[in-house]
Amino acid sequence: MSDTSSGKVVVNRSMSLDGFIAGPGDAMDWIFDFVAPDEFPEIAAATGAMLVGRRTRDVGDRMEAEHPGSTDYPFSGPTFVLTHSPPEPPDPDVTYLTGDIGEAVATALEAADGKNLEILGADVAGQCLRRGLVDEILVYVMPVLLGDGIRFSPPGLPRIDLEPVSSSRSRDVTILRFHVRK
Ligand SMILES: NC(=O)c1ccc[n+]([C@@H]2O[C@H](COP(=O)([O-])OP(=O)(O)OC[C@H]3O[C@@H](n4cnc5c(N)ncnc54)[C@H](OP(=O)(O)O)[C@@H]3O)[C@@H](O)[C@H]2O)c1
Repeated sequence: MSDTSSGKVVVNRSMSLDGFIAGPGDAMDWIFDFVAPDEFPEIAAATGAMLVGRRTRDVGDRMEAEHPGSTDYPFSGPTFVLTHSPPEPPDPDVTYLTGDIGEAVATALEAADGKNLEILGADVAGQCLRRGLVDEILVYVMPVLLGDGIRFSPPGLPRIDLEPVSSSRSRDVTILRFHVRK
């Protein structure tokens, strides 16, 4: 997807060491034991748009209702939510998309206006990986084993080879960046 005029398509995840991005019942509170939502502002600054699965959006809305400020990622660009059933009334801050994942990524990447597009949601990321649409995977590995929950990607993906780009540590969190080989 990358060329000189467009940003990268990035799957950006907080993950337990055993590969879960949410605990049982979509639990996300464990992440904030180790990292604050606004801890890596340079990543948010490099992001021009987000393409979000409807389940991720619902969990985020629930977290925000229960704990105001808990999803305060410092990002204010265009957000696209993939769903077959947009809510009524729709959220005016969101553009709802449905159907072909390639078209959705192209639309959201164009809206990112040269910055990166972040892909949120395991199901949505799996579709993007399967179609070869992801340029980069950025994982924040948390020092915890969750044992159960939502995996990084759904079962059934073919083997996908990655090229390590960088690894670093920020307090308790290990940050791994990979380029997706195509
Ligand atoms: N740890 C992290 O960094 C991180 C990041 C993101 C998400 N998460 C967690 O991951 C979990 C959600 O992931 P998930 O895999 O269950 O769900 P998801 O990918 O967020 O959303 C899946 C939903 O998106 C819609 N959708 C997907 N592809 C579509 C398409 N091509 N056209 C139309 N609609 C489409 C469908 O919604 P409809 O049923 O409405 O059609 C589908 O049920 C949550 O627990 C969330 O908190 C964690």
